[in-house]
Amino acid sequence: MTSRVAVARDLKKLRRTVAAWRAAGETVALVPTMGALHAGHLALVRLARRKADRVVVSIFVNPTQFAPHEDLATYPRTWDADLAALARLKTDLVWAPSVGVMYPEGFATRIAPEGPARAGLEDRFRPHFFGGVATVVAKLFLQCGPDAAVFGEKDYQQLKVVTQMVKDLALPLRIVPGRTVREKDGLALSSRNAYLTPDERAVAPTLYQTLREGAAEIRRQQPIGAVLARSRKAIARAGFDVDYLEARHAETLAPVRSARDGPIRLLVAARLGKTRLIDNIGV
Ligand code: PAF
Repeated sequence: MTSRVAVARDLKKLRRTVAAWRAAGETVALVPTMGALHAGHLALVRLARRKADRVVVSIFVNPTQFAPHEDLATYPRTWDADLAALARLKTDLVWAPSVGVMYPEGFATRIAPEGPARAGLEDRFRPHFFGGVATVVAKLFLQCGPDAAVFGEKDYQQLKVVTQMVKDLALPLRIVPGRTVREKDGLALSSRNAYLTPDERAVAPTLYQTLREGAAEIRRQQPIGAVLARSRKAIARAGFDVDYLEARHAETLAPVRSARDGPIRLLVAARLGKTRLIDNIGV
């Protein structure tokens, strides 16, 4: 018989459950997700399991981080498969609030992150995004009260924005980064990979291959500007429309001019047909 996972849809049940764990002296780790879980999410859940006695996974497709022209309506929703996968990992609780529970009538408070949220990367193309992410993540932290929360490095700028928010607001938890999980051909796992046509899927790994080559060239002391120009061209030649491909300081996300300004992270966002892919690599 397949085991089931407990689901909380209202704050009362969530708080009662977490309070009982706390009363027993147990620690809690949270993995925030928007569902459509893939092996990358599941690796984050396993990592959370190693960090705390209890694991809560939130599933909430957050409307405030989508612009009106983006894919909120079509964002993949795979509830039954998500619950089955989380049950197999013995997740202790799924926190699945409705939009009405997360943003009740009259909701009027928003976090406005700066610093890494204004680095000129994702924020240049999705100006609404990090405000929506920071607001919902702050709420998730306050609702679940975890000791630790796990975020994937795949969304590198998001990881930095959330880390900065926790520091700035002195929120009593630590952020644990999880490594990007990749297909055999290097494509980073993403719920949005489901949008790729077979032809696009064949081309998609070029993104990571190009990042790897770029990182290797920078390590060999090639001038960063020339490496970035070559990499952008290679991705465009493969059929992508490049939003950005940048070398940034791995912690502050500030622009870097040479390998001496490091540690460096290469970050890319590019569109393949209707699908926008992002990825990054440490140099
Ligand atoms: O990375 C995501 O899936 C989302 O941005 C997050 C952190 C769950 C907030 O909605």
